[in-house]
Amino acid sequence: MSIPNHILEQLNSQADLISIIGRHTTLKRAGSEFKGCCPFHGEKSPSFYVNPQKNIYHCFGCSVGGNAISFLRDYENLTFIEAVNELSKQTGIEVPKEEQQNVSYQRSAPKPIAPPPVHNVPSPTIEHSKVNQSGANQDNYQHNRQDSHQNNIAQNDQIYIDQSSYDDAQGYDNFLPLEAYDSAPYSMDSYPSEPYSSNHADDDGYPPVWLTDNDASMASIDQNADQDGNLYELLEQIQQFYQHNLHTHPHAKQYFLSRGITEDIFETFGLGYAPFGWQHLEHQFPQDIEGLKALGLVRQSDSGRDYDLLRDRVIFPIRDNQGRTIGFGGRALDDEVKPKYINSSDSPVFHKQHVLYGYYESRQQRANDWLVVEGYMDVIALYQAGIYGAVASMGTAINESQISRLLTLNPTLTLSFDGDGAGQKAAWRTLEVALPVLADDKELRFLTLPNNHDPDTFIKSQGSDAMREQIANAMPLSQYIFAYLSERYDMSLAEGKAKLMSQVRSLTTALPKGSSFRYLLNNDVYQKLGGRRSQNVEAKDALLDFDGDMTISQQLQLCFLFQPRALIDDPIESIWQQSGINGLHLPAHIKQKASPDTLRPLAWEDLQDAALLDIVSTIKRCLNYLPKDANAAAHFILSNVKPATQEMLSRNWGGFYKALTARNILGLDGLIEELVSQLLERNMKKKIQELIKNPDHIKLAIVRKQTQLLNDWLRAQQAEQSAQMVTVQS
Ligand code: UTP
Ligand code: MN
Repeated sequence: MSIPNHILEQLNSQADLISIIGRHTTLKRAGSEFKGCCPFHGEKSPSFYVNPQKNIYHCFGCSVGGNAISFLRDYENLTFIEAVNELSKQTGIEVPKEEQQNVSYQRSAPKPIAPPPVHNVPSPTIEHSKVNQSGANQDNYQHNRQDSHQNNIAQNDQIYIDQSSYDDAQGYDNFLPLEAYDSAPYSMDSYPSEPYSSNHADDDGYPPVWLTDNDASMASIDQNADQDGNLYELLEQIQQFYQHNLHTHPHAKQYFLSRGITEDIFETFGLGYAPFGWQHLEHQFPQDIEGLKALGLVRQSDSGRDYDLLRDRVIFPIRDNQGRTIGFGGRALDDEVKPKYINSSDSPVFHKQHVLYGYYESRQQRANDWLVVEGYMDVIALYQAGIYGAVASMGTAINESQISRLLTLNPTLTLSFDGDGAGQKAAWRTLEVALPVLADDKELRFLTLPNNHDPDTFIKSQGSDAMREQIANAMPLSQYIFAYLSERYDMSLAEGKAKLMSQVRSLTTALPKGSSFRYLLNNDVYQKLGGRRSQNVEAKDALLDFDGDMTISQQLQLCFLFQPRALIDDPIESIWQQSGINGLHLPAHIKQKASPDTLRPLAWEDLQDAALLDIVSTIKRCLNYLPKDANAAAHFILSNVKPATQEMLSRNWGGFYKALTARNILGLDGLIEELVSQLLERNMKKKIQELIKNPDHIKLAIVRKQTQLLNDWLRAQQAEQSAQMVTVQS
């Protein structure tokens, strides 16, 4: 993948270099720069400088220097691509997924298309049954239409019945235009509604006034006939054409006004109107047929005739993150017309799954609180109410990467869904999609408006303050999960609770590795259901009951005394294994330089804890001779350890044994694993401190990585244990 230079420059200049480096060394302000001890060569007096204006660093001691990408690469051992992605996440600057797709198309010679002469028009003898398979709406539809557009429409215009399926043109080719178009979509009588007809002052000749009066570059397209067209430019011109139509078609403008949209918002969102007729785009852009087709705005029927995708619809231009128009959504003016919305199809410049409607406009307003809504109108209504940051996906559910992008801009994201069954289903699906990117520092909130309102209708009926309040009170994820599931299962039955718990368990396995939210969520729901706590938790309580503060090591010694067979498989080795430290993947240059000693698992000796080592080695020695009875085995071990070890253990053993048996605790595997991990963690942290004092960068990098793996594993472990809590009291 080659990443354009200007993107790299943007990433480097917008990265928060101070906090990136600040993760590794303490930086203090020194004039316009920041100063600290060099993380690369380790020093006592600071000679490492970071310049936040230029966003670069330099060390006068060892003369390393560079920018954000080089720091991540050289210090954090990321590959170039990893560093780029990391910064892209941090800054929100998008890195192109693939080489820029082909956005050019072949323009054809200028040949303005005149309205078809009368003799070319097939006679309007179309049969309803052929076109209108759902018949029922026809009269009603026709009636409304004639009412609302009195002058604009011919009496026999009876053909514009969309019946395609939800979400745009996919199912579209299957039916309508074939017979409809061929058998007589319009007569001369229907032409007067077209923009190029003579009843509009600006429609005489070509190019039309809207194209020439305000933008000289637009008018020049004729001279460029032999040059390639550019899809972005074409889209821009189409948008202007649609926008212009809004003002020449009062019923369209009236539609937006009647939905409470003010004229300044028309401009902000570039709202427009695609007129009646099957070929308005071809008439306006006769040289750009290929481009129109590439954009999916002009389709071809089976009989080979071209027709416009969007007809008699108000238009919502869809923009990319830079504000370029990349597609259009078109809404029918009449709720009876199906589909209500048609979106232009994916094209070389429009990839629905990456686009969020309203994102560009929100960024323009420096929005910081992001709210995912369902529709175009919701985005616009919120914006108009001064609530910035609302975005909608394109007719399909919002996906993982869109959610993760919003979560990097702000760790709290609110999702709003319709209150009806479909809306709630969508909310649940979205929740499932979002879980894998929901690291511990991220938070999802769910907003369901009362009375089946969507944000648009809610603002209209309750006002924008009420809307803000709703957003502020959106439900946290854990609460939402419980609320959603407890409505679906019978909570008065143990079976219902058990099913709910098992749903939560499988749901939380999707959370990221090492998520402590996983643990908390399980626990939370479990407690809500009145569940009993796990053996592990009980065992910890048993330890708490104890007089005096025991160290982790002493707790562990008692545990081994209670369950000596836990040492059959050495817990340290097993943790090393399970946490993946064993298979730790290291860059070749580090591996070469690393001493074997750094890579081997820790041993009990390394913990430098005489009493613990005494117990462990004694148990290992006499594992084969231990009596079956736990109490007897403990005394057998105690009689074989050194007097110093014996003293503390003998004092506490009786109480510990009693506390465990009273709680009916049979095994301590979980607790032992936890305690051993804690000791390992502590040991590794100590090592890191030493290595920072007496720098050995290779060793340091390795131990850091090992510690991180251990940490991740430990937290995943906790979540797992909690997920195993199955007993639910009714
Ligand atoms: P809704 O049907 O909930 O409509 O569709 P809405 O947003 O409330 O629209 P208004 O307020 O009646 O104008 C939600 C979103 O689903 C997509 C659109 O993106 C729409 O904004 N959609 C809906 C389609 O793509 N096609 C459809 O036929 C309907
Ligand atoms: Mn709506």
